[in-house]
Amino acid sequence: RFAEVPLAPPDAILNLSTLYKADTSAKKVDLGVGAYRDNDGKPWVLPVVRKAETAIYESQVEHEYLPISGLKSFTDAAATLILGGDSVAIKENRVTSFQSISGTGALCLGANFLKHFLPQGTIVLLSNPTWANHKNIFNTAGLEAHEYVYYNPATLGLNLEGMLASLREAPNGSVVVLHACAHNPTGVDPTQDQWKQIADVMQTKNHFPFFDCAYQGFASGDLDRDAFAIRYFIERGFECSVAQSFAKNLGLYGERVGCYHVVSRTSEITDKVRSQIARVSRAIISNPPLYGARVASQVLNDPQLLAEWKESLRAMSGRIIEMRAQLRQRLVELQTPGNWDHIVNQIGMFSFTGLKLAQVEAIKSKHHIYMTGNGRISMAGLSTRNIDHVAQAIDDVVRN
Ligand code: LMR
Repeated sequence: RFAEVPLAPPDAILNLSTLYKADTSAKKVDLGVGAYRDNDGKPWVLPVVRKAETAIYESQVEHEYLPISGLKSFTDAAATLILGGDSVAIKENRVTSFQSISGTGALCLGANFLKHFLPQGTIVLLSNPTWANHKNIFNTAGLEAHEYVYYNPATLGLNLEGMLASLREAPNGSVVVLHACAHNPTGVDPTQDQWKQIADVMQTKNHFPFFDCAYQGFASGDLDRDAFAIRYFIERGFECSVAQSFAKNLGLYGERVGCYHVVSRTSEITDKVRSQIARVSRAIISNPPLYGARVASQVLNDPQLLAEWKESLRAMSGRIIEMRAQLRQRLVELQTPGNWDHIVNQIGMFSFTGLKLAQVEAIKSKHHIYMTGNGRISMAGLSTRNIDHVAQAIDDVVRN
């Protein structure tokens, strides 16, 4: 029956973890998947998460089904976190929020909802490049995905003019997936002024912004600053969707904690949107899992834990910023051909090194360093223990 099924390629990101684990070299370094590591290369369970887990355990909770929309204390707090405590949209009941299977589940819920309720033939625009899973998610929901210009390989920065031109050329009313902060994979974000120009064009074209926010607080260390773009678009009167993940910022990777928000023009529309997203979510997951949402809810709703969490966010983003500086410095000292300033100019979990596929292959086979084929490295995989090895390896593959 399935003999004609073509063999799919391995996942561009998650397969790296498998290859890394199978590598027996003592020198191996995992710069593949975007997951935070401490300076010993170990996963870090945030102290607030441990405290929340203890409180949940001690309160002897039940394990009943959640409503389709999820744990209300979590989704309400998640909406406030991303849209802001003073969000007019929240006050006017123009926001509906559904607990999701992390950011991917939120994108998937959104994609399926949009597929049914946007005019037939509406296309989705993804940045070039973007997170390897975006196209897969929207295509699987039956939406056609196209690209908009984003990155300029010559400057290793944003190609704003190209981006604006792509947005102008796209059919009116397209869905535009925007990385709210810490663009994955490039680490290149628009400035606040550039966001305004992007909003201008999108408003003229009646495009629908679909924000993917996987790194709030993780990029700059400041939860509010990292939510700027989303809040700004909503203030300007846009309707929009937001896929929110707590994988990175709370370190709840495997617990799959996220939220899908839709901001509409009126509370009447919001009620209708809510009813339809409930149908989609019921079909896909029935109702969402409790555990991770309980943990996040404890942290988000307790001022003491919230303050402690913010400290941890600053610690994580601070260590990454430090690794950026050290990697750049070593490459400059080694006089590695090229300019390496982009490593410190980029923001968030990743650096888009500029290494080409052949160099990525060489650094893996010769030096046991794992990164995605487009030259993206997860900065959190660097530590004071492996940074010399990584810098020397980059130097070697750039020269040879
Ligand atoms: C990444 O880009 O490495 C992360 O978002 C993990 C993933 O699921 O791909």
